[in-house]
Amino acid sequence: MTTEASAEPTRRDFLYIATGAVAAVGAAAAVWPFISQMNPDASTIAAGAPIEVDLTPIAEGQDIKVFWRGQPIYIMNRTKKQVDEARNTPLADLKDPETDQARTKEGHENWLVVVGICTHLGCIPIAHEGNYDGFFCPCHGSQYDSSGRIRQGPAPLNLPIPPYQFVSDTKVQIG
Ligand code: FES
Repeated sequence: MTTEASAEPTRRDFLYIATGAVAAVGAAAAVWPFISQMNPDASTIAAGAPIEVDLTPIAEGQDIKVFWRGQPIYIMNRTKKQVDEARNTPLADLKDPETDQARTKEGHENWLVVVGICTHLGCIPIAHEGNYDGFFCPCHGSQYDSSGRIRQGPAPLNLPIPPYQFVSDTKVQIG
């Protein structure tokens, strides 16, 4: 008797929950096609379709990581100090000599866009770490400067720059 009484509300609750869940899924299914048709589908992105990234949420001195072709891409809004350090570094100090100007876009010098894959054995370096205000790879200690150039450790090359362009002052297209 007691069991019957307590079991009944539980079953009813389940029915309410189940009905609510179906309604929520139905609403999501109705909205999703309108949202998803504005973006390339997952297979197109995986195949290398360009992606657009809004830069407005990235404050000076901060960075975000996005994914393009399955690769992590760091987008760093560099401080003036970081830009100056990168530009004042003599090329003779670099293992893989490249100017900061060659690695950034004119008129958008504060923005660094690099593939976040260590050129040693492929770990993902950590931004804003290490001795050069750039990136530090925790696997074997490679350090990259604020231009993503290799400065210390076993990595042989700079972090690669993916193909990208500014489509406006606040939006970048990668790929
Ligand atoms: S993978 Fe980065 S230092 Fe080895």
